Amino acid sequence: MRSPTIGVLWLYGLLLATAISGVCGITNPNFMSVRKNVTKEYKSERQIPKEKYFHESDLYHHYDDRYTNVSLPVIPYLSDLIQTYFTTMNAIGAETWIMHGTLLAWWWNQKLFPWDDDLDVQVSESTIHFLADYYNMTEHYFDLPHVNGGRSYMLEVNPNYIVKSERDTLNKIDARWIDMSSGLFIDITAVRKDEARRLNGRPEALMCKDKHNYDESDIFPLRDSFFEGVPVKIPYAYTYILEEEYGPRALTRTRFYGYIFNERTRIWEPAARKSNRSV
Ligand SMILES: *[C@@H]1O[C@H](CO)[C@@H](O)[C@H](O)[C@H]1NC(C)=O
Ligand SMILES: *[C@@H]1O[C@H](CO)[C@@H](O)[C@H](O)[C@H]1NC(C)=O
Ligand SMILES: *[C@@H]1O[C@H](CO)[C@@H](O)[C@H](O)[C@H]1NC(C)=O
Repeated sequence: MRSPTIGVLWLYGLLLATAISGVCGITNPNFMSVRKNVTKEYKSERQIPKEKYFHESDLYHHYDDRYTNVSLPVIPYLSDLIQTYFTTMNAIGAETWIMHGTLLAWWWNQKLFPWDDDLDVQVSESTIHFLADYYNMTEHYFDLPHVNGGRSYMLEVNPNYIVKSERDTLNKIDARWIDMSSGLFIDITAVRKDEARRLNGRPEALMCKDKHNYDESDIFPLRDSFFEGVPVKIPYAYTYILEEEYGPRALTRTRFYGYIFNERTRIWEPAARKSNRSV
């Protein structure tokens, strides 16, 4: 029953691969690597990959260096990135939510921080398998009203997503949503069952390869909200998660990096002409 679908996906993959290598000059993807049933778990130290899968630009660490050659005004690209990401994930039924600095920005006004250079989302364990099986290297075209000719985005899944260990420090990022015009991307990390902590009496323990730990009830059930104008999910205990990660002051302080939060307009405004923002 699945084979016709897979056939179509493989054909789609073939067309994509041709298009991608044509555009970017990267080597042809190895088709055997687009496997359908990867469930292997690497348990021993020896098996942990010694190679980093995703590479970042020297110019700027949130660009993918296969696509970057210029410096860009980042905010409009980031807004498009998050909007197109959630639009796509919502459409294909992938379970994903915002986290870290992006969740903090959401907390204030459901918009990106003007000083943001980074977006973070997480996916569930079953979702990363689903994305790896059916959507790796898929290209998603968006006819954005303010972008002449529209823009294409690619979902790329790190083959080391099957390695659960935090010791795989070179492959903490499980997948990326990449703006193919600029190389800007969103890091996607999977949240997995933490078997070791579960055995030690924490039956809800979850972990990410980037060493963040949660309990199931911190994240689930996910809540519905909006960010940058699109429907997104947020973790259930968002206040707790934000206070754990950034301290309670991060939720009350109205001055950051040379910006002041205007309570009336609910917008971060530059504090003074002389900006001390850090990039
Ligand atoms: C996704 O595709 C790329 C390019 O073919 C490949 O290098 C990578 O291993 C694939 N990822 C997975 C999870 O199979
Ligand atoms: C996928 O499943 C088939 C049949 O169950 C098996 O022969 C094959 O080795 C599996 N491939 C991987 C990469 O696990
Ligand atoms: C790289 O630079 C060239 C020439 O300036 C430009 O045409 C191209 O769009 C740029 N590519 C990216 C990915 O920004």
